[in-house]
Amino acid sequence: MLSISDVEKRYDATVALSGASLSVEPSEIHALLGENGAGKTTLMNVLDGITRPDGGVIRWRGSEVRIDSPRTAAALGIGMVHQHDRLVAALTVGENFALAGESSFTIPRDEIRDQLADLTDRYGGAVDPDARVSDLSVGERQWVSLLRALTGDVSLLVLDEPTTTLTPLERDRLFGALREYRASGLSVIFITHKLDEVFALCDRVTVMRRGRAVATLAVADTTRSELASLMVGQAVDTDFDKHAVEAGPALLLVEGLSVRGARQTVTGLDLEVRSSEIVGIAGVDGNGQRELVEAITGIRTPDAGSVSFGDGTAGWHAGRSASVARIPEDRHRHGLALGRPLWENLHLGRWHHRGLGNRGLLNRRGARDRSGDLLRTYDVVCSGPDQLAGELSGGNQQKAVLARELGDAPQLVIAMNPCRGLDIAASRFVLDQLLEVRSRGGGVLFVSYDLDEILAISDRILVMASGEVAGQVVPGPQATEEIGLLMGGAVLGGPR
Ligand SMILES: Nc1ncnc2c1ncn2[C@@H]1O[C@H](COP(=O)(O)OP(=O)(O)OP(=O)(O)O)[C@@H](O)[C@H]1O
Ligand SMILES: [Mg+2]
Repeated sequence: MLSISDVEKRYDATVALSGASLSVEPSEIHALLGENGAGKTTLMNVLDGITRPDGGVIRWRGSEVRIDSPRTAAALGIGMVHQHDRLVAALTVGENFALAGESSFTIPRDEIRDQLADLTDRYGGAVDPDARVSDLSVGERQWVSLLRALTGDVSLLVLDEPTTTLTPLERDRLFGALREYRASGLSVIFITHKLDEVFALCDRVTVMRRGRAVATLAVADTTRSELASLMVGQAVDTDFDKHAVEAGPALLLVEGLSVRGARQTVTGLDLEVRSSEIVGIAGVDGNGQRELVEAITGIRTPDAGSVSFGDGTAGWHAGRSASVARIPEDRHRHGLALGRPLWENLHLGRWHHRGLGNRGLLNRRGARDRSGDLLRTYDVVCSGPDQLAGELSGGNQQKAVLARELGDAPQLVIAMNPCRGLDIAASRFVLDQLLEVRSRGGGVLFVSYDLDEILAISDRILVMASGEVAGQVVPGPQATEEIGLLMGGAVLGGPR
């Protein structure tokens, strides 16, 4: 169906692709694996006509094609769901669908409503055409992008890390949709960092390393350790070194918090994060996690209740103190200034804490020097502190956010999906960093849709459902089942 051969792409000194090749057969789900910065997104952008390659050939159903824009790709039948969605946040879901369709003078609202209803009937998920995209969670936006990519005559669907913000339930729904899609003779290129997903869903797998494909294998004939060593050249340890420590005084105290969000209202929530403690927050996306985090970090004003921090200060400005790190859900909207260089991004909101700002005067040279250290420690693949944040691969952007937030040894970390888009080695590094905060007496509020991550490092786990804490679970053999029940709204017996 598709064969890509010897594609080259270079950005000044950075070689993004060097002789990359990939072929996809009809009716297959083809996994594309590789470390952060291996070239996966770049290769897909070449296929979508967004990035112009320096060399190489693309064949589509046997004949050579030149894809010079997403419109050309769509006309061939290639649908793309990008790593960072390309929806217009200020418009509604329906209006975004209109943008993707035929251009016309008016927006065919009824037509779009019908089209969306058909798509959700077939693939699942409730999508409100009148919801404003900026009010949706990252996971919901991903689902909207998927449905949008599926409109029209698509025979090859490309999904660039579609599962990083999905809960297990949503992921099952997605996998079901993709299997159905494959059964009707269509194909999927599926980019992920999670090996479990490769084994659960895919037929063949191609591993990329430093801009080229190093192997293509049938999933049935390979193993986790073979794939891991093809990707990084070594096996990655997945056991955590977590010492028992006694939790100390409260570093974060949330009392009776009520906050209204666009989609969910949090009501009367109490929460405490103590010193030497990692508190996990589990729950299906959209049950108030985002509103909670935004209220704690000062993005959203609570209607009632209070948020106070360990040093006794209360209110949103305390969230800006140097000892509180905030890792936001959406690195593009709240984490980085994409059009600014890395050295500025690594100091956003931190100039004064680091002694690099004085009454509005900024010590740029000092900041650039400090940036070099941070980029090295956090292993951010880039051409240097002057590179624009928007030019980094998705995983490396995430590492830049982490470098800024965790680089000053914070006392309290509020993290939402901090491992989103990170490869195995980098996720491991981040979870180790959070454990390190705990062992030096800090506290972590760890919100994630990835239960495995939460179970791996949390001391206790609060499950959110419908804007409230449905219950508390301690990691252990029964935890997964208990969390599942609580997510579904069950009330567990026994002492909390
Ligand atoms: N517009 C650009 N300007 C400069 N360098 C770029 C640009 N786009 C990509 N690169 C570089 O090309 C390399 C490959 O990036 P790419 O986004 O394809 O990686 P990836 O495999 O998708 O990684 P991730 O898993 O982190 O998403 C990276 O080193 C990246 O910094
Ligand atoms: Mg990518």
